[in-house]
Amino acid sequence: MRESLRFLLGDRLVEINRCDPTLTVLDWLRLNQRMTGTKEGCAEGDCGACTVVVGRLDRGLLRYEAINACIRFLPTLDGCQLLTVEHLKGADGALHPVQQAMVECHGSQCGFCTPGFVMSLLALRLNEAEPSVGRIEDVLAGNLCRCTGYEPIIAAGRRMDEIAPRDADRFLRERDVVAARLTALNDSETLALHGNGGRFYAPATVEMLAELVAAHPQATLIAGATDVGLWVTKAMKRLDPVISLGRIEALRAITDEGDHLRFGAMAGHIDVRTALAALSPQLDELMRRFGGEQVRNAGTIGGNIANGSPIGDSPPLLIALGATLHLRHGGKARSLPLERFFLAYGNQDRAAGEVVTHVTVPRPEAGEHIRAFKIAKRNDQDISSVMGALKIGLDGCRIASARIAFGGLAGIPRRSETVEAALIGMSIDDEAAVAAAVSRIAGDFTPMDDHRASARYRLTVAGNLIRKALMEIATGSRGETRIAHLREAHHAA
Ligand SMILES: Cc1cc2nc3c(=O)[nH]c(=O)nc-3n(C[C@H](O)[C@H](O)[C@H](O)COP(=O)(O)OP(=O)(O)OC[C@H]3O[C@@H](n4cnc5c(N)ncnc54)[C@H](O)[C@@H]3O)c2cc1C
Ligand code: FES
Ligand code: FES
Repeated sequence: MRESLRFLLGDRLVEINRCDPTLTVLDWLRLNQRMTGTKEGCAEGDCGACTVVVGRLDRGLLRYEAINACIRFLPTLDGCQLLTVEHLKGADGALHPVQQAMVECHGSQCGFCTPGFVMSLLALRLNEAEPSVGRIEDVLAGNLCRCTGYEPIIAAGRRMDEIAPRDADRFLRERDVVAARLTALNDSETLALHGNGGRFYAPATVEMLAELVAAHPQATLIAGATDVGLWVTKAMKRLDPVISLGRIEALRAITDEGDHLRFGAMAGHIDVRTALAALSPQLDELMRRFGGEQVRNAGTIGGNIANGSPIGDSPPLLIALGATLHLRHGGKARSLPLERFFLAYGNQDRAAGEVVTHVTVPRPEAGEHIRAFKIAKRNDQDISSVMGALKIGLDGCRIASARIAFGGLAGIPRRSETVEAALIGMSIDDEAAVAAAVSRIAGDFTPMDDHRASARYRLTVAGNLIRKALMEIATGSRGETRIAHLREAHHAA
């Protein structure tokens, strides 16, 4: 076991021997390092004022990601590079091209949000050349500005590569050197840290993870901590011990296994989006609207399932696709259809110390059509009121198979089995019969009223989504009725 946390802060090596397991990166920066350029707004991952960039090795290559420092625990930076707004100024005091673009485009007024926007744009610049307006909007959806308005900031995103070409950017020029330094830090020892009465473990292998959870079955597992972080910053929970899955590279893999896709539990939503997009453009759009870029960088598919949320976005989708969940308890592995994992609100079929290792998703067969809908109050970075997904198999015009799943209609994500059974065998063109089948949805769900939506709204919208999906499939619509389509048309104009 290694008892010191090691990471790069800019190009300075930091080694810490004692650390509170749930000390946030933001608190460490501001209170311990007095690096106050990174701001605290909401402390729950919503506003982006605390955005920093983390460089980490991904299959040997350095990858930069914008994340929310307010909900990221410091020990999870082991083996990474942390960049904050303080690292942007050159040795000669010159502004970084992203900062210069913000100045020239008048992208800042009170300035509170500005370091966060700058860091989100920095991550974009380091990853992509000449990003489209759509991409700039995507990466800024997790950053809130209350006074400037977004047009000048988006303009800065378009201008940054004109001010200085990307390949002249010192972060990209130094990439190989940083990657080599991180490679030296990424050993296969388990990190075991103590501090403030708490314990933090970060194993590097699945085998070591199994040993640790056997020794500490009540430990809190953390993946991206986009949920768990809020238990600390909002619910003021003390977690001890904490076991982080973040160093286990094997759990991050997404592989194409021919007739199915295999997603490691630690696959981040950004990569999940790319893989699902290959199945259907609808899934690309759904995942684009999952949180903001910072949440998509940190959050994982395993965390989205294991948290058991009734309004998580990926579970209804994966259930509709017919996914299988794979878990491991010590040396023992088991699998089950994903829908059977969710037992009741707050109760999943997972024993203490059992770890979600991966999820497998069958590739849709010929004649199977996928549709997915996220209904939320805002288009970007919002939790769903209703999340619906369908996989409909057609034999000519006849509905041969149907898997329809919803989040937001019950205490758990669930299939609409009555409607599925009623639809099978009917012609997709028979509007009256389809409407009658869909009207049976009330037999499947008893939704609740809350601040996001009333029970009546949830049920009505869910029925309408099924009808809309079937209409789209029947008419071969390419999504003209979707907001995404309007957005593309707007950007093209
Ligand atoms: C600003 C913001 C926006 C968000 N937007 C969305 C959204 O649009 N849609 C949505 O669905 N969610 C959203 N979320 C919720 C959250 O980001 C997701 O649920 C995310 O997928 C959780 O993954 P994680 O890796 O961060 O999980 P963590 O926070 O690390 O863990 C969540 C839970 O799962 C457990 N766990 C994690 N991994 C495993 C594993 N492999 N085996 C067993 N247990 C495990 C943890 O112990 C914990 O109980 C949002 C959150 C924030 C803060
Ligand atoms: S302070 Fe608002 S996202 Fe971190
Ligand atoms: S410049 Fe004031 S909040 Fe953005």
